[in-house]
Amino acid sequence: MRVCVVGSGGREHALAHVLGRDADVVVTPGNPGIPGSVATPPEEVDADLFVVGPEAPLVDGLADRLRVAGRAVFGPGADGARLEGSKAWMKEVLVDAGVPTAAHGAFTDEATALAFLDTMGDLFVIKTDGLAAGKGVLVTEDRAEAEDAVRAYLAGDAFGDAGRTVVIEEGLTGPELSLLAVCDGTAAVPLAPAQDFKRIGDGDAGSNTGGMGAYSPVPAATDGVVGDLMEGAVLPTLDALRRRGIDYRGVLYCGLMFTPVGPKVLEYNVRFGDPEAQVVLPRLADSLADLLAAAAAGALGDAPAFDAGAAVTVVCAAEGYPASPRTGDPIDGLEAVAALDGVTVFCAGVGEADGRLTTAGGRVLAVTGRGADIAAARQRAYAGAGAISWPGIQRRTDIAATPTAAD
Ligand code: AMP
Ligand code: GLY
Repeated sequence: MRVCVVGSGGREHALAHVLGRDADVVVTPGNPGIPGSVATPPEEVDADLFVVGPEAPLVDGLADRLRVAGRAVFGPGADGARLEGSKAWMKEVLVDAGVPTAAHGAFTDEATALAFLDTMGDLFVIKTDGLAAGKGVLVTEDRAEAEDAVRAYLAGDAFGDAGRTVVIEEGLTGPELSLLAVCDGTAAVPLAPAQDFKRIGDGDAGSNTGGMGAYSPVPAATDGVVGDLMEGAVLPTLDALRRRGIDYRGVLYCGLMFTPVGPKVLEYNVRFGDPEAQVVLPRLADSLADLLAAAAAGALGDAPAFDAGAAVTVVCAAEGYPASPRTGDPIDGLEAVAALDGVTVFCAGVGEADGRLTTAGGRVLAVTGRGADIAAARQRAYAGAGAISWPGIQRRTDIAATPTAAD
């Protein structure tokens, strides 16, 4: 099978790497660190299966255009991708599907939005309705900061048009979980659960990022918990989409929080998580190409098997990320990491100059370690990430240090 992966980040490198076990893979546009990268636009690539990595082209209807051209595609059309493209719409679907989620309101008017803050508790959550590269969410106890964000979002000052509708949510607390389900329009199967680390700093301090590391499995997410989440969240959501005439074939990424009153869905994404993909996919024991091809054809079989070991990934980010990453520095240490057992480097914001790989974005690399358990995988991930260097490199030191345990 020949598979075309669309995208250019660490997630797409992980997809290509694992698909490459039993398929021929091209990645468009990819990056200089991803083997098989081609500059050809996806519409002009010849492949048996297209796997669209990022949300933006999905929201923009790339999967629809490819399907119209007769291609098999793993990734929802623009109708289903709206789950990620509009948080207000996602909340409507969640409520319709009866899925537990944070109380919320969606607003375009400043006075009404500010008045709604009075109905919230001590923790305010302000989100852009539209896409903001994972950065459109403010979680704060500071009422003045919440009000400033509402004004800046609605005025278009903070995130342009993405913020002109603002979603205000009840602040929830508890450990988070990323559950990725593969859907074929009607049926869905879970992938191994993962947890990611969204803040830039150790101890979850500082700004939200796209994700600074992840691990899988998550001890708290037992098979029973995953089964309940499939029955209580993923399958009802797929039904609610189908009632709207949406044939959702792709990943439904369920971002959850284990609150004191039970798990609640924080958000849906319409693609694999990044960096969750870098820990979930390497653990897959079955063929990823066969799984995604079956989903694209509307003919999913049984849930795939995962190896019993663990994976941990540590993101190496550029100086200044997430606000203003510095780029253009040569990446040192890649040869040393290549010699380490059980360590794989996935290239995200990577460029090339004078025959060397260079930093070209905020999150530059994700270094994944695999081992018999989380501690062993973590040790390998940090051995790898520690061998990489460039001026101002940022990595958290506490990824997977205290995995969320079962009660
Ligand atoms: P989202 O993009 O909606 O997943 O939000 C990004 C991050 O913000 C989540 O992973 C949580 O850490 C945090 N977050 C989102 N919604 C809430 C909420 N209602 N209560 C508390 N934290 C939240
Ligand atoms: N790691 C969070 C995301 O992919 O949205």
